[in-house]
Amino acid sequence: MKILLPADVIRQGVERLAREITVAYQGEPLTVVGVLTGSMVLLADLIRQIELPMQVGLVQARSYRGNATLPGALTINAQMLPDLRGRNVLLVDDIFDTGRTLFELLTQFDELNPASIRTAVLLRKQGRSEVEFDPHFVGFDIPDEFVVGYGLDFNDHYRNLPYVAALEPHELAPESRP
Ligand code: IMP
Ligand code: MG
Repeated sequence: MKILLPADVIRQGVERLAREITVAYQGEPLTVVGVLTGSMVLLADLIRQIELPMQVGLVQARSYRGNATLPGALTINAQMLPDLRGRNVLLVDDIFDTGRTLFELLTQFDELNPASIRTAVLLRKQGRSEVEFDPHFVGFDIPDEFVVGYGLDFNDHYRNLPYVAALEPHELAPESRP
């Protein structure tokens, strides 16, 4: 594995994200919605640094199936979501890859009549977007490599690493999967 973002670099990026979000909402109350499971580490660090009155909710979105690193059909579980009507909603995810997960969530949440919806991600992969929007708040732009750590997984492993690392091609091969 090759470390792309050491823990102290991530910490500075999350501090900057929290400052940008705090400034953008100008004291208005916010509902932060974390996209499970990948956002959980970012969510925990981020919400403690945003200086706004806040509710926190969760939604589960799964786009990767089994061992694959290719996106598959998206399933969304919104049972842990609070009422979003009239709220300023900030969707938080680990990574913007094709953008399809956040696009689908934005589309579905829009029907719940929030006052506003924006998105924040720790990482954005270069040259991968397949959608018409960009995330509002981005921690880091990274090259098009498969990354793990700080919440991001490969086959549900490595989420606990305190840094973000790119897996080498041989580490992604079927015979070396964790
Ligand atoms: P998108 O819908 O293509 O933007 O993909 C978003 C989701 O795919 C993220 O929430 C991640 O769970 C997963 N994902 C995309 N790229 C990576 C990666 O490099 N490592 C781990 N998970 C990834
Ligand atoms: Mg995810």
